[in-house]
Amino acid sequence: MTAPAKRAAELRQQLDEANHRYYVLDDPSLPDAEYDRLFRELQELESRHPELRTADSPTQRVGGAALKEFAPVTHRQPMQSLNNCFSEEELGEFDRRVREGLGLETVEYVAEPKLDGLAVSLIYEDGVFVQGATRGDGETGEDITANLRTIRRLPLSLRQGKKHPAPKIIEVRGEVYLPRAGFDRMNAEAAAKGEKLYVNPRNAAAGSLRQLDPKNTAARPLALYAYAVGFQQGWTQPKTHHEVLALLREWGFPVSDLIQVVQGPAGCLAYYRDMQAKRAGLGFDIDGVVYKLNDLAGRDELGSVSRAPRWAIAHKFPAEEAVTLLENVEFQVGRTGTLTPVARLKPVFVGGANVSNATLHNMDEVERKDVRIGDTVIVRRAGDVIPEVKGVVLERRPHHARKVELPLTCPVCGGHVERAEGEVAARCTNGLSCRAQLHGALQHYVSRKAMDIEGLGEKLLAQLIDIGLVRAPADIYSLDAEQLAALERMGEKSAENVVAAVEKSKDSRFDRFLYALGIPDVGETTARDLARHFGTLDALIEATQRDLLTEGDEAVKPKDRYPELRKVPDVGPIVAAHLCHFFAEPRNRKAIKALLDAGIHWPPPKAAASGPLSGKTLVITGTLPGISRDEAGALIEANGGKVSGSISAKTDYLLAGEAAGSKLAKAEKLGVPVIDLAGLRALIEG
Ligand code: IVH
Repeated sequence: MTAPAKRAAELRQQLDEANHRYYVLDDPSLPDAEYDRLFRELQELESRHPELRTADSPTQRVGGAALKEFAPVTHRQPMQSLNNCFSEEELGEFDRRVREGLGLETVEYVAEPKLDGLAVSLIYEDGVFVQGATRGDGETGEDITANLRTIRRLPLSLRQGKKHPAPKIIEVRGEVYLPRAGFDRMNAEAAAKGEKLYVNPRNAAAGSLRQLDPKNTAARPLALYAYAVGFQQGWTQPKTHHEVLALLREWGFPVSDLIQVVQGPAGCLAYYRDMQAKRAGLGFDIDGVVYKLNDLAGRDELGSVSRAPRWAIAHKFPAEEAVTLLENVEFQVGRTGTLTPVARLKPVFVGGANVSNATLHNMDEVERKDVRIGDTVIVRRAGDVIPEVKGVVLERRPHHARKVELPLTCPVCGGHVERAEGEVAARCTNGLSCRAQLHGALQHYVSRKAMDIEGLGEKLLAQLIDIGLVRAPADIYSLDAEQLAALERMGEKSAENVVAAVEKSKDSRFDRFLYALGIPDVGETTARDLARHFGTLDALIEATQRDLLTEGDEAVKPKDRYPELRKVPDVGPIVAAHLCHFFAEPRNRKAIKALLDAGIHWPPPKAAASGPLSGKTLVITGTLPGISRDEAGALIEANGGKVSGSISAKTDYLLAGEAAGSKLAKAEKLGVPVIDLAGLRALIEG
C-alpha cells in the first residue's frame, strides 16, 4: 500500500469507529472538532487521489447527483408483512397454532417493539453497503441507496465480527424512522418557512426517504433499527433469531435494546404491557410489538400464508385517535377558579377505552383549533393521559355548527368571570365562596403531598360542603366524630379515624403547608425551595410585600421585578407574581390565620449546620441505593450543605442514583459535577 492509501484507510477506520460510537452506541469517543479535522483530511486526500475514494468512505454519505426518478429493485427474497392481533385471545390462538405446528408444549419468542417507520432492505456485498431499497409491494421496491447512505446510524461497511466474518452477500432488513425530537424540529422549521406541516413522524420519514436529491434527505434526522436478515450467500446462519440480532449488533447495526427473549404467551403479554407503559417515554413512535419464533429451523417448518409468516405476529396497541361528534362544550371550574372547556362527545372507543369527555384546555386552544359545537372532531387518548380534542374534520362541518363562547358568569356559582390580559386562563373571581373552587382547594389541601389527611375523600368533602359544615379549609379542624358519624356511609369508627387524621396533620412542615395553600404554579418543589430559602412564613410574606412594590413601578425594568422571590431557584416572574398576589389578598391572609389558630404548626428552621459541605448546594435525582432521597437530603444538611430542587449553574453537585432523567442531562449540559452516593460520602469524609 502507498502511504496515501494507508493513511486514507486509517482515517476511514477512525471515522467509522467514531461514527459508530456516536450514533449507534450513543457513547461518543471523539470531540466533534477532532472528527471534523479527520474528515477534512480524508476529503483532501481523496480529492488529490480520486482513485482512493471508495463507496464505503464516510465522505460518500452525502454526495452524488439528484435523481430524476427511483429505479425499481426486485427483492431477492420477498419482503413479507405481518399478521396482526389485537387481544389476549388472538395472541393465544397464534401461540396455539405455532405450538401445534411444531408439536411443542411451550415456545420461545423474541419480542420486539413494532417501530412505526418504513421497512428497508440493505444489501452488503463483501461487507460493503451497495444497495438499499424500500419495501414497495413486497416484491419490488425502489432504489434509495443514496438516501439511505445519509443515515448516520447505517454502517457503510460491516464491522468485522470476531467469530463471524462478513458473508459474501447479505441483506439486512430494518426500519427507518424519525425520532420525535427530529420530527418536532422538522415541523418547527417548516412552520418558520410557512410550509405545510407533517402529520406524524412516519409520514415525515416517508417523505424524507423519497427525496430525489440526497442532500435533502441528509438534512433530515432519520434513524434506523435493524431487525432481520433476508437474502444471504456464503453465510452459516445461527440457530436462533436472537443470535442473528447479536450478530447484527456486532456488524455495527443499531439493534433496539428493548428486544427481549420471552417464554410463551404469558411472556409475550408481560412484554406488551411493559412496552405500553414505556411507550410515551421512548422518544420515537411504536404502534405495537412483534413476537417472532426464536428458533430459525422452526420458522422453515411453519412457513407462510398469503405473504405473512406463520411464525410471527404483530400485537398492535389500540388506536390512539378516533373521530366522533362534538355534542356540546361545558366549562369546568378548577381549584384555582380556572374555567376549562370540556368537550361532551358522542361516546367513542379510543386508546382502549370508551371516551365521552375530552379536554379542550382553554379558550385560546378552542379558537386556534376552531372547534365548534356540532363538529366532527379528532379525539386522542394516549396512555394514561386525559383525552383531548386534537382537531376538527372541517370537511364534515354542518352549517348549524355553533361557536364556543366563554361564559360571562361562573357556571358553578354565578360569580364574575375574568380573563386577565396576557393570560390564557379565564377564572371565576369568587374564590372559596365558589363551591367548585372550595371543593378543589380542599381536595388539594388534604392530599398526600400536602397536609396528608387520610379519610377525607372527594365524596365526603362534597357532602360536608353541601350541608354547610365546611365553608373554608380551617373548618376541617372543628369537625367532631359525632357530626361525621351522622353522615351517609360513615360509621363511628371511620368518623373517629378522620378526626384522628385531622389532629395528626396539625403537626406539619412549612413546605407542605405552603404547597397545601394551592397557590397557582407553586408545586411541591417550589414550595420546598421557598421554605428552605425563607425559613419562616413571616419572612416569605414580608418578601412578597416588598416585591409587590416593584410590580407596578415603571422605574423598575421588568427583568428586575420581584428581586427577593427570584433569588429562589426556579421562581420566575409568573410564580413570583402569583405569590405576591396570593399573600396580598386579605381573604387568603384570613384563611391562613384561621388555619394557624386551629393549631397547625411546624418545627422552626434549623440553623444551618456547618460542616464539610458548608456553602455547597446539591440537587438529588434518581433512586439512591439503600437510602431515600429525604434521608440523603438530611445527611447533606447535617453536614452543612443545602439541597435544592432544581439544577442551575449555581448548583455545586448533582447527586444521581438509578434512573436519573432530565436533571442528569441538564447537569451535564451545564457542566455541573455529577456524583453518586459513594461520591457524597467521600466529600463528607474529606
Ligand atoms: S419483521 C416477516 N420486526 O412492520 C417479517 N417488522 O407489518 C416482517 N416493523 O413491513 C418484518 N417493527 O415495516 C419486523 N421489529 C419489527 C418491526 C417490523 C416494525 C414493520 C415493518 C414491516 C411491517 C409489517
